[in-house]
Amino acid sequence: MASTIPNSQFTIINPSSFHSRRYVPLRPQPSSIFGLSSRRPLHLFAVRASDSNNSSHAAPLHKLGLSDAQCEAAVVAGNVPEAPPVPPKPASPVGTPVVPSLPLNRRPRRNRRTPALREAFQETTISPANFVYPLFIHEGEEDTPIGAMPGCYRLGWRHGLVEEVAKARDVGVNSIVLFPKIPDALKSPTGDEAYNDNGLVPRSIRLLKDKFPDLVIYTDVALDPYSSDGHDGIVREDGVIMNDETVHQLCKQAVSQARAGADVVSPSDMMDDVHLSVTNRYASSFYGPFREALDSNPRFGDKKTYQMNPANYREALTEMREDESEGADILLVKPGLPYLDIIRLLRDNSPLPIAAYQVSGEYSMIKAGGTLKMIDEEKVMMESLLCLRRAGADIILTYFALQAARSLCGEKR
Ligand code: PBG
Repeated sequence: MASTIPNSQFTIINPSSFHSRRYVPLRPQPSSIFGLSSRRPLHLFAVRASDSNNSSHAAPLHKLGLSDAQCEAAVVAGNVPEAPPVPPKPASPVGTPVVPSLPLNRRPRRNRRTPALREAFQETTISPANFVYPLFIHEGEEDTPIGAMPGCYRLGWRHGLVEEVAKARDVGVNSIVLFPKIPDALKSPTGDEAYNDNGLVPRSIRLLKDKFPDLVIYTDVALDPYSSDGHDGIVREDGVIMNDETVHQLCKQAVSQARAGADVVSPSDMMDDVHLSVTNRYASSFYGPFREALDSNPRFGDKKTYQMNPANYREALTEMREDESEGADILLVKPGLPYLDIIRLLRDNSPLPIAAYQVSGEYSMIKAGGTLKMIDEEKVMMESLLCLRRAGADIILTYFALQAARSLCGEKR
C-alpha cells in the first residue's frame, strides 16, 4: 500500500531517491560469487551519487556493469548495497503531549498525505471540455463592460465575440451560449424579434459557424430579451403570463436558432410543454446581474408564476420527468451552487446528462469577494466549479469558463 510507505521520497522505484552527499561503498566481493571462470580482480565498488540535494536534478546511479546474477549473488552473500537511511522522525514542538497511538483501524489522512496521493485518489475531475461559456452580445462594434459582472462585456457580435470565442478555444473551451442585448425599439409585448432569422442571435450563430465550424453553440430559448415587459412570456392585460401562446413563440424562436446552426436549444423559459432540449430553473435572486447585462428586468412583478419556487425540492422531479418525456437531451439546473441538492437529485434519478448553470449572481459574488480581498478568487472559483461537478453536473455553464480553463491549462494571468 502506497499509504504505508513511511516516506515516499525513498520508494525504491524512483532512481532520483538514491542521492547522497557521499560515496556509497559496497563491501568487497568474495571471488566465488563470480564463478570460477571469472578471473576479474575484486572491486571495491564506489558509487558516486549526485552531490546536489535537489532531487529533480539528481542523476541516476552509475551502472557497474554487473549482470542480474551477479547483483543477486552479491545480495545473497550478504553484500547488500546501501541505500539512504530512513530520515529521522521530525521533531514535535516542545510541549507536545506524549500520548499512546489512538487505536484506529483506519487513518484516512494516509491517503491525503502528499499531492501525489491526493491526486491519485481524487474522485472528481474538471476539464475545460466541461465548460459552456455564456457570452453577451450586442449590435455595437465595441465591447461594453457590464457593471454588475466585472470581467464580462456585451461583446460586439462581429468583433469582440469572435475574438472571445477564439480565446476560449485556445484553452479547450469549445462550447458557448449566446445571450443577446436587443435594442429597445425591437422589443414588443409578443417578442417577435425572437424568431427573426436575421436577428442578432441567428446572425451571430451563422458568423461563428462560418469561422469555427466545430464550435458547439447553445442558445437560450426565452422571450425576456425581446419582451417589452421584460418577462419570459406574453403578458395578458391582467398581468397573467400566457403559457401556450408563449410556447408558440418559443417554438418559432427555437426553429429559427436551429436553422441558423445552433447545436443545442435551451428553453430557459419555464413555460410548460416546450418540446426541446434543456431545463429546470428556479425563481432566483441570483439572476440580478444578468438582467442588468441584458437590460431585461421585468418591468413589473416577478417571475414566480413560471419559475420554480426555491423552497421546492420534489417539484424538481416533476419537471425532470416532464423534460425527459419531451425528449430533452440534457437536464439543466439553475442556479448552481445554492442548488447542489437538486443537481444530485437529478443525477440520481435520471440517466440524462446534467448541466449546472453557475449564474451571474454566483459569479459576481466571487468576483466581488476576490476584489475586496476577502476570499481568494481563483481558488474559490475552482472549488465552486469542482463542487458542481461533484454534485453530479456533467457540464457547467459559467462566466468563469475562460478564466478557469486558463488556470487549468497552467496559464497565470
Ligand atoms: C432568461 C434567463 C435568465 C438567465 C438566463 N436566461 C434570467 C432571468 O430569469 O431573468 C439567468 C442567468 C444568469 O443569471 O446568469 N430566460
